Amino acid sequence: MEALIKELVETDGPSGEETAVRELIEKRIAGSVDRTFTDSLGNLFALREGPAPLLLFSAHMDEIGVIVTHIDERGFLRIAPVGGVRPHLLLGQRLRFKEGLIGTVYHEKIKDLKELDWSKLYLDIGAADGEGAAERVRIGDMACLHQPFVNLGGRYLAKAMDDRIGCAVLVEAARRLPPSLPQGVCFLFSVQEEVGLRGAATAAYRLEPDYGFAVDVTSVGDTPEAPLMAVSLGQGPAIKIKDRSIICHPRVRELMIETAEKEAIPYQLEVLEYGGTDAGAIHLSRGGVPSGAVSIPCRYVHAPSEMVDAGDVAHAVALIEKLAARNWPLPEG
Ligand code: CO
Ligand code: ZN
Repeated sequence: MEALIKELVETDGPSGEETAVRELIEKRIAGSVDRTFTDSLGNLFALREGPAPLLLFSAHMDEIGVIVTHIDERGFLRIAPVGGVRPHLLLGQRLRFKEGLIGTVYHEKIKDLKELDWSKLYLDIGAADGEGAAERVRIGDMACLHQPFVNLGGRYLAKAMDDRIGCAVLVEAARRLPPSLPQGVCFLFSVQEEVGLRGAATAAYRLEPDYGFAVDVTSVGDTPEAPLMAVSLGQGPAIKIKDRSIICHPRVRELMIETAEKEAIPYQLEVLEYGGTDAGAIHLSRGGVPSGAVSIPCRYVHAPSEMVDAGDVAHAVALIEKLAARNWPLPEG
């Protein structure tokens, strides 16, 4: 599974430009499902047909990045965030454009780091002047962090763990599903989560699932002077109770906990005080979809290097596999 994670995190897919990620996932999952299809916004559906109810598991393909807003006469680019990017985390970082062009981020003269905002940052692609820069980039081009995948001995470090690790977990879970399932299961690889859960909203509307699950990263409270949070790396996947986008359906939550306990899969309970996931969009689709989320604990979410634990990842795969294979009642109402 490490090879799958590495190729997924090292592929670039800022929000709205997920094509390369989608093509890779489609190749990797095609043999494990009955059919795959893509919608007009770029969401990828991978379907195991079956009787009702229909379960939807969603991981988003997009990652945070930047977008070019201005090119000056000396060839320096100004940039704006795509998704939740904090400017100080970009200092000195290399960014990569779709065509492989690389630049480095630096800042104008400032007295104090507190003055650092997007207007003080620029991206240097090594162009001699504005014309040279304009030959290589255009306003609106997007770039992603340029960081290699590393295995630190049981813990993985990479950019875009949010949420390629969720994509990897779904691909791996799909491979392990038994030949016959008690219900239909759709694995969704959604677009534009980082800019407001957009792909999951249209995908859920089209699919009309009976249950929804987001599979995404969550923050942890186990680093030096971290904000207090009862989730740690290495203690198992987290079953979400709540974040800013959803209060997970109590019945779904109970069945998730019941499944983890029955299968002896370690888990944690997650209350995330900020941020959201695709479940936020899915549960509000049409007449409402009872939803929950499996979260992979992750340090340094939205930083250039995000860290997850290999054991948590393996247990997340097992939990998804067991959730998909267990019997789900038809929801009430
Ligand atoms: Co994110
Ligand atoms: Zn995410």
